[in-house]
Amino acid sequence: MRTYDHDEAVRLLVERTDATLASDQPGYPHYADPADGTWRRTPDGFWTGGFWGSLLALAAVATGEERYAAAADQVAIGLTGRAESDTAFRGFLFHYGALLPHLLTGSGAAAESALAGARGLASAFNGDAGLIPLGSQAEEAGDVGAGAANIDAVPGTVALLCWAAERTGETGLAEIARRHAARHVEYCVRDDGSVAQSAAFDERTGELKCRYTHKGLSDGSTWARAQAWAMLGFAQAAHWSGPEFLDPALRVADRWIEWLPDCRVAPWDFAAGVDAPRDTSASAIAAVALLRLADQSTDRPHYRDHAAATVRRLVVDHLTPVTEDDPRPAGILTAGCFDQRRGEATAHELIWGDHFLLESLLRLRGDVATSIP
Ligand code: GLY
Repeated sequence: MRTYDHDEAVRLLVERTDATLASDQPGYPHYADPADGTWRRTPDGFWTGGFWGSLLALAAVATGEERYAAAADQVAIGLTGRAESDTAFRGFLFHYGALLPHLLTGSGAAAESALAGARGLASAFNGDAGLIPLGSQAEEAGDVGAGAANIDAVPGTVALLCWAAERTGETGLAEIARRHAARHVEYCVRDDGSVAQSAAFDERTGELKCRYTHKGLSDGSTWARAQAWAMLGFAQAAHWSGPEFLDPALRVADRWIEWLPDCRVAPWDFAAGVDAPRDTSASAIAAVALLRLADQSTDRPHYRDHAAATVRRLVVDHLTPVTEDDPRPAGILTAGCFDQRRGEATAHELIWGDHFLLESLLRLRGDVATSIP
């Protein structure tokens, strides 16, 4: 078994980022088969393209090399064209693809892109119902109509809107963020602290009609990324929007810790059984959320240890090279599960998995300030 070397793990992820940058293909990296590392790309960034920008910005922090910051800028500028896309996942695109790079590198171009994304998102707010709906162009919208919400629309979104409110003085943006987060606590967090991915609501009143899932095993089960996105989204909301979001963040995090198997990598759905495919990306997201919550709460110091143990297992068991003679390209976080229900990229490298593993490593090393969302 490989031994754990924190700095070497950072170096490997940066090496992989460098290889992706050098490949210079059009579009945004989405997922890759670990066997050869060839990225499947999306022409417009889908909901995942922003993580390419944030990965580049983290590489700039890790190395001090300006070329990564310049490449992150190009991603942020390129995403500006998505500011008017009708999807709540603009939170992912513009938080990770523009705001985080701005906060990490100081880029003015990235700040402008983040502001455009925040204003576009805010224009989709349904004031009667009190949230930004999934949107007709969201990955999972299909034919769900205007009364659909997803927990994955909270991470990024709340932080982006609150930052934009602070920067511009437009306090209405912060109020939209607060109401959006509060609705998702109501819609998606079950009494036992587990999380439902999706909700149908009355678009005139906001009244919850039912909970369901797009990517989980069943409407009543818990898709691992739903739980992880909720941890991260409410941790960000507690930081940016108000302390009332700390309690739901801790409740969903406690549930995650209770359910996580000893290998520290969640099955793609917690009801899928012990032999089910894993999703390393869910565990990487959760690690970042736990690190943030360890700083934000007074009585969960064990969250940091839990995050550190998760990161160790992700690195030792799943970051290439996993063995001395591993022939695969170096620096790939393997065993990410994009969409088990549709059988798409179920044991792959996922761009956001790489991002959250590198973010966790840099937060643990103190290279990313706790004030960064
Ligand atoms: N739609 C976000 C995800 O698949 O995690």
